[in-house]
Amino acid sequence: MCGIVGYIGEDQAAPILLNGLEKLEYRGYDSAGVAVCDGGSIQVEKCKGRLKVLADLIDQGEKIPGTVGIGHTRWATHGKPSDLNSHPHVSGQGKFAVVHNGIIENHLMLKEFLLKQGKQFLSETDTEVVAHLLEYYYQGDVLDAIIQVLHQVEGSYALGILCEDIPDQIFAVRKQSPLIIGLGQHENFIASDIPAILSKTREIYRLENNEIAQIKKDQVMIYDLEKNIVQKERCHIDWDISAAEKGGYEHFMFKEIMEQPKAIADTIQPRIQEGRIVLDDMTLTKEDLEQFRKISIVACGSAYHVGVVAKYVIEKLTRIPVDIDVASEFRYRNPIIDEKVLVIVISQSGETADTLAALHEAKRLGARVLSIVNVVGSAIANESDDVLYTWAGPEISVATTKAYSTQLTVVYLLAVYMADLMGLISRQEYQGYLDDLCHLPGQIEMILKKKDQLQTLASRYFNAKDIFFIGRNIDYAMSLEGSLKLKEISYIHSEAYAAGELKHGTISLIEDGTLVVALATQDTLFEKMMSNVQEVTARGAVVLGLTTEDHPEMEKSATHTFYIPKTNDLMLASLAVIPLQLFAYYVASMKGCDIDKPRNLAKSVTVE
Ligand code: F6R
Repeated sequence: MCGIVGYIGEDQAAPILLNGLEKLEYRGYDSAGVAVCDGGSIQVEKCKGRLKVLADLIDQGEKIPGTVGIGHTRWATHGKPSDLNSHPHVSGQGKFAVVHNGIIENHLMLKEFLLKQGKQFLSETDTEVVAHLLEYYYQGDVLDAIIQVLHQVEGSYALGILCEDIPDQIFAVRKQSPLIIGLGQHENFIASDIPAILSKTREIYRLENNEIAQIKKDQVMIYDLEKNIVQKERCHIDWDISAAEKGGYEHFMFKEIMEQPKAIADTIQPRIQEGRIVLDDMTLTKEDLEQFRKISIVACGSAYHVGVVAKYVIEKLTRIPVDIDVASEFRYRNPIIDEKVLVIVISQSGETADTLAALHEAKRLGARVLSIVNVVGSAIANESDDVLYTWAGPEISVATTKAYSTQLTVVYLLAVYMADLMGLISRQEYQGYLDDLCHLPGQIEMILKKKDQLQTLASRYFNAKDIFFIGRNIDYAMSLEGSLKLKEISYIHSEAYAAGELKHGTISLIEDGTLVVALATQDTLFEKMMSNVQEVTARGAVVLGLTTEDHPEMEKSATHTFYIPKTNDLMLASLAVIPLQLFAYYVASMKGCDIDKPRNLAKSVTVE
């Protein structure tokens, strides 16, 4: 996720900005830049690549004079990683320089307006509209210009702003994306995250939504949108630096689990406009969809598990048959693929070698390829005909959580979009699905609040030798993911089984005290699942039942029951996965495992 740093004081700004940005590197980025004001004009230096490339370009900051500046590390969302798309962005006459975290949702409409005013755009980013708009509205008072711009832009933002005419001030504003102001002695800072300034100060103001900060080296003033002065309370930060990078959490995996409501909201919200799903630059038409004889999904690991859910969801809503393949198998099985097949490739990194090879095979056979990817500009994204990005932000823990959840979200958006395009669902059903999608982040928050229950359960079973996960249909797909999550980080042997398949072999492994996690979230299959729960309890299993709030009967059969809220059956996977992630996390934590970097595993598997 992008990072922002700003400095105003008596020292040279550029080295301090580089240092602050380095502290934000853990968040992931693909380009970096700084803008520094030296009393007169604003000097901007920025480039694609690691921070070191920028640091070398500006001689570790020494090359740029000036004591006031803003810096940024960019994690691409709108526009590929490139020198021009890097921040800061500058207005046409160079009066304003802007760094931005978040997404300006109405940037296309604003860009159209600005183009009509003769503004020229250099980048593909949504951010550049902010720089041009500031200059457009500026009539000598920067605060007034900022307020006018804020009335125009929609979306989420943390902004750091420099104005050439006022070289002794930085301006900062936020809505939904975090921004703090660090308070020093004859120096002040802005930052998107605490680690960036922790070596300089521990005294901060937390900027709230729609507060505008006017920052001088000896004074910080905060205003609301009516230009009233806002009184702020200082906060003292007592975290150590490594805790700060993880937002105070012990592990990135836990941080990323907790970030899921926001990641899902970021993936959904910009794509629902005026009650309709708007899918980026999607080129698939109704005619295209109607001529596909099947959809073939390829992916690896957890992304493959998303594909298993997608099979149920897409088939149910579009009635197009869906195949699902592990990418490393797909290319060696001589798949029956041609131009009448839509191949959907799912990959967080967009670089997984097996998935990329499967994509090449699909293209060679003439298929149309749509990918669901988290990393903008990655190989898979670049080589696909259509790309839907999961705006999860960078995922640092090797075991995926928020990328998995946002992949599921994109699958729902896509399936509902396709069903609507093909005229297969009524207006009412369409609206119902959109409402359910929008409720997911809040429902996940509710589950996260019950995390202590899962910690308690983990404390009872973290010494288990084998743990089984069972479920039917989508719950089977969730069993696969729950089992993988557990085994990859806790090293406990685990199997996932389609519940009806148990008695064809695996049930011989169940003995006194074996833990079986039984997922029964689907109304229509609840009774069938209860029979399977009884089958295993009769053989001595201890059952952790996972079901929706309207099925208290689970408690009669299961040893423990965990409830999730109700949503439509197709989207329950998004809720069911949360307790499974938390359970795996707590078990691994109690076993003292290296949770963020499990043995033998890599975040991005770029070899076959
Ligand atoms: C498991 C996990 C992996 C990945 C798999 C595919 O927690 O993260 O199974 O899902 O390696 O990676 P991507 O999605 O980058 O193609």
